[in-house]
Amino acid sequence: MEKPILDVCDLSVARSGKIVIKDICLTINEGEFVAIVGPNGSGKSTLMLALLGVLKARSGTIEIYGAPPMSRKLQGTIGWVSQAAANLPKDIRITVRELVRLGTINSGNMFDLFDGGRRERVDNAIKMTGLENVQDTDIARLSGGQRQRAVIARALATEADFILLDEPLVGIDRASRNSLLKLLDQLCHEEGKTILMVSHDLTAMRKTAHRMIFLEETIRFDGPTISFPDLEKLADLRGIEAVHDDDHMHDWSELGEG
Ligand SMILES: Nc1ncnc2c1ncn2[C@@H]1O[C@H](COP(=O)(O)OP(=O)(O)OP(=O)(O)O)[C@@H](O)[C@H]1O
Ligand SMILES: [Mg+2]
Repeated sequence: MEKPILDVCDLSVARSGKIVIKDICLTINEGEFVAIVGPNGSGKSTLMLALLGVLKARSGTIEIYGAPPMSRKLQGTIGWVSQAAANLPKDIRITVRELVRLGTINSGNMFDLFDGGRRERVDNAIKMTGLENVQDTDIARLSGGQRQRAVIARALATEADFILLDEPLVGIDRASRNSLLKLLDQLCHEEGKTILMVSHDLTAMRKTAHRMIFLEETIRFDGPTISFPDLEKLADLRGIEAVHDDDHMHDWSELGEG
């Protein structure tokens, strides 16, 4: 049985008074790994911020586990890895383990004297992301890929069932990227987590995601990865007319490697 986790209906969101995304309808079921792709400025991060409740909808509705964004009921159920996540401030002295532990703290347990299984969740998250050997290292000394994994470990430590990631692959080397994607895929298959991930990296998403959404102001494609349109069809979807043979290749290149 398919269980919807996210239900978005006719959503429009404006930024600085200008409509950035409009008429978005979207349902995501438990255990799905969904990729959102689209060119720069097409509204991908805006959609994520609206789902998180940081940006308000101009019109339309968003329900996550049947509740509106930011509602109390959702506390601890959503994990968030932002586009700038790996750019952690360099002047904060904090180890990997401490960073991941922050993921287990919320307004409800901040002053608890009891551990409440938090230590185990931190251990697990560190293990899943393969950071055991650097867990006591200062985050400032990590490589870009390790830092990205630490930020993901923090999201995992929340025990969130629904994980949103905005460009988690940017700036990390190929090997780390592959292990990260494998980890996310495992989380879906083995832990029943649901993943919604924004990425520029079409090739990587084609290999990993179960379903792809092409967003450019509105949803122009939404379907199984296997039926994601080729370059020419995509240019059609975007309303781009080829003037020269290589024109839409040029337009598409911005979507290639992020
Ligand atoms: N803080 C802001 N204030 C006003 N407009 C903004 C703001 N942030 C983004 N925008 C505008 O909203 C539109 C969508 O931006 P958004 O960041 O959602 O795009 P994106 O698809 O995530 O792009 P990228 O691939 O570069 O991350 C853009 O036209 C952008 O200029
Ligand atoms: Mg963005």
